[in-house]
Amino acid sequence: MTDNVTVLITGASTGIGAIYADRFASRGHNLVLVARDAARLEALAKKLQAQYGVEAEIILADLTQAGELDAVAQRLRDDRRIGVLVNNAGMSLSGSFISQTSADINRMVALNLSAALTLAHAVAPRLAAAGKGSIINLSSVVGLAPEFGMTVYGATKAFILFLSQGLSIELGPQGVYVQAVLPAATRTEIWQRSGVDVNAMSGVMDADELVDAALVGYDRGEPVTIPPLYDEHQWTVNEQSRQAMLPGFSQQHPAPRYRNSSE
Ligand SMILES: NC(=O)c1ccc[n+]([C@@H]2O[C@H](COP(=O)([O-])OP(=O)(O)OC[C@H]3O[C@@H](n4cnc5c(N)ncnc54)[C@H](OP(=O)(O)O)[C@@H]3O)[C@@H](O)[C@H]2O)c1
Repeated sequence: MTDNVTVLITGASTGIGAIYADRFASRGHNLVLVARDAARLEALAKKLQAQYGVEAEIILADLTQAGELDAVAQRLRDDRRIGVLVNNAGMSLSGSFISQTSADINRMVALNLSAALTLAHAVAPRLAAAGKGSIINLSSVVGLAPEFGMTVYGATKAFILFLSQGLSIELGPQGVYVQAVLPAATRTEIWQRSGVDVNAMSGVMDADELVDAALVGYDRGEPVTIPPLYDEHQWTVNEQSRQAMLPGFSQQHPAPRYRNSSE
């Protein structure tokens, strides 16, 4: 699907991104690893170079900072070797909407939503012109579940799912594969970083199992991959009932239930 192209992975210093780095390196891909923690990125790059004989470059960037995000975007525009973007960097926030600070919410939106969007927008024209390449976007099952009580995090992940599905429809015919990956709770530092004890939770998947499953979906060319969903039919039914509404949206007049009863 993607030849032996270079893979750029955001949030590669730990967790799901670091596993993606390992798996793409094991497939023989050179890497560009993006995150803020220089020591961790350097250690991972060295390890993967030694283990798999690939090239692994690091870019230090805080993707919530416009200038640093722009540098990564520019690299994606210019470097014709990069054929896969893994939009993985992300953060979560604990607490209720009212208890979260505006600054924290804005930082999370900048990372989970704006940075992923900016990087996809930077690479897409080049991939479309080449007629090949892939964009993998890390969404979450939380984006399907306002009931889970992680409202803004879930909203950023719902955006990523919608973006991925829309881009899949737009870019798929031009040879660019776009995949949304929806993990449920996965054992990484994201929990600790937002003050949640992952060890107190049940049903948590290990990051390596999650990524291996996501790559099965990738190799199949799935637009949406939900590794923890056992009953695939549930997603198919969800999509079919959503799509069944679409032809009915073109109406000159509101539905009868919204018409003024006095008329
Ligand atoms: N773990 C889960 O339960 C779960 C479930 C569903 C979806 N996801 C999604 O999966 C993706 C990866 O999450 P994870 O669980 O692997 O998280 P993680 O272990 O906390 O790792 C997050 C990665 O993003 C990087 N990062 C954080 N802030 C950044 C910033 N401002 N600029 C650049 N890089 C930054 C971190 O590196 P530095 O600190 O070095 O910058 C790290 O490499 C996220 O999009 C997350 O929302 C995770």
